[in-house]
Amino acid sequence: MTMRPLIAGNWKMNLDRAAGTTLARELAGAVASASAFEMVVCPPAPYLLAVAEELAGSPVALGGQDCHTAASGAHTGDVSAPMLSDLGCTYVIVGHSERRADHGETDAVVRAKAEAARAAGLVPIVCVGETEAQRDAGTTLDIVGRQVVDSVPDGLDGATLVVAYEPVWAIGTGRTPTVDDVAAVHAHIRGVLSAKTADAAAVRILYGGSVKSSNAVELLAVANVDGALVGGASLKTADFLAIARSV
Ligand code: 13P
Repeated sequence: MTMRPLIAGNWKMNLDRAAGTTLARELAGAVASASAFEMVVCPPAPYLLAVAEELAGSPVALGGQDCHTAASGAHTGDVSAPMLSDLGCTYVIVGHSERRADHGETDAVVRAKAEAARAAGLVPIVCVGETEAQRDAGTTLDIVGRQVVDSVPDGLDGATLVVAYEPVWAIGTGRTPTVDDVAAVHAHIRGVLSAKTADAAAVRILYGGSVKSSNAVELLAVANVDGALVGGASLKTADFLAIARSV
């Protein structure tokens, strides 16, 4: 790996305040500033402030799971990027496949969210990934490449952009692509990014989808895999730390 890998925990709509703050406190106590990895946790929005308080003074970063395209306004139930920033977030996931599927988010919407995140000083973690049908049809590289072209704003760099490759069929299923397949997709993403930024080599490209302590060493060793976006295994302190330490 050419840069400091990012180990990101996406809690999704899980845990309660007590469990989330306990998890955050344990991670904050265990991760040293000089770690070989950078860690970020992305709790549900209602718990961001409580988790931020647990992470204060630790190197573990805070991220949102989504943001609106607008900075403020009449958007009931939504959360803006400046609000996330105000709570201490430095990252925000945008375009997760669950958002794309559950809320009909298009590449254009995802791109606008990533731009809103940047405007608020946040680093967007832009998610892409093919469905099982698309993989079976042999269109994975086309689909993922198109998502990167259309979802990632132009002109960002290694300090202002993270991309996450999450095959939809690998999320929460216990199934993962082969290391060769992961390598092929990540190399393709790197190539597509080079048309968008002069700094493509420095952009971290995370792999996500059923990352566990048992497969993290293998997945994180793949060329162009610069970290992991972890769902289920990020909900338990020991599991998430084991993944981070496999860097
Ligand atoms: P799992 O690690 O539970 O498969 O979830 C991956 C994911 O969607 C992270 O954003």
